[in-house]
Amino acid sequence: MNTDIALIRNTQHPSGAYPAGPDFSQYPYCWLRDGSFIAYAMDRAKVHASARAFHLWAARAIQAQSSHIEQLIERAQKGEVIPQNAFLPARYTLEGERKEDGWPNFQLDGYGQWLWSLGEHLRLSEESGLPDLLAPAVDLTLGYLRQFWAEPCYDAWEENPSRLHTATLASIYGGMMAMVPYRPEALETAQAVRRVILEECVQDGRFVKFIGNPAVDASLLWVSTPFGVVGENDPLMQATTAEIEHCLLWAGGLLRYASDTYYGGGAWLLLTAWLGWYYARLDNPERARECLAWVESQRNAWGHLPEQVPVSSTNARFLAYWTRQWGSSACPLLWSHAMRLVLRAELSRTKC
Ligand code: BGC
Repeated sequence: MNTDIALIRNTQHPSGAYPAGPDFSQYPYCWLRDGSFIAYAMDRAKVHASARAFHLWAARAIQAQSSHIEQLIERAQKGEVIPQNAFLPARYTLEGERKEDGWPNFQLDGYGQWLWSLGEHLRLSEESGLPDLLAPAVDLTLGYLRQFWAEPCYDAWEENPSRLHTATLASIYGGMMAMVPYRPEALETAQAVRRVILEECVQDGRFVKFIGNPAVDASLLWVSTPFGVVGENDPLMQATTAEIEHCLLWAGGLLRYASDTYYGGGAWLLLTAWLGWYYARLDNPERARECLAWVESQRNAWGHLPEQVPVSSTNARFLAYWTRQWGSSACPLLWSHAMRLVLRAELSRTKC
């Protein structure tokens, strides 16, 4: 069996949760963000049972907080200020519990990505409707995002808590749109989110990292791929990708953003696969294959793919700092394996 599928399958907890990085000190938990893309990769690889187990796990974890979610919405509607640590978490224990350890938890993107990934799961596994076991968690998540989508929160890299991030908004848009076939009222929020992206997250003809910061971030690729706020060939998107490549591409691998210091700011495998995914959907299989080759060249002796690898721009001082804090950076990272699977699947779909 394919190494990536086998690794993801063997690492999936009996609960359905995917640990982000089973061997890394900080990642034995399941992030909604990583998990949603890992489940999607399993759906693309036709391993629907694994994706289904993840979605049922996520739905249980969310539904267990139903009264908390309802209270949050009620408090906000009364005009109360809600502290960031009261919101839903970014990551859960493998048993689906919230972990109170001061992690920067308020990250809305994962909830949008979960709805999107679930929509893709239902489509790719040819389900005709929203299954009863999943519907209550979907309704809770839609209500939560409808209320809080414009609230500043941490970004996908768990930083910048008081900003509105383009990639986060795009993820919420993608999630809302994915649920429109089952919950048509989700369209209204999706359209409002899209308006803000197009009106406030654009500067000099391209998307920006967050409102007020003109820099690019590799997660801006998500705006088109897969969330479809605009298409891959939209001029705004093409200008964004050109700037991402200009600022963030180092010897074939993509950085998260130029001033990144986490493990010195290496090149991320999952983002490089994402660039390939973008190019495959843009009908540029040559570029997509180059990205795939770079990702595959990073496998270690066990076939594992790391989170990131140092490149010539990496800051040695910060690499040493994080290594002292937490040990070597995550390897394997399941999300890296997942994005390689997605890129492979996309390339074979375009038959090139
Ligand atoms: C990344 C997150 C990711 C988490 C687990 C963090 O370093 O910034 O995007 O969800 O690791 O993989």
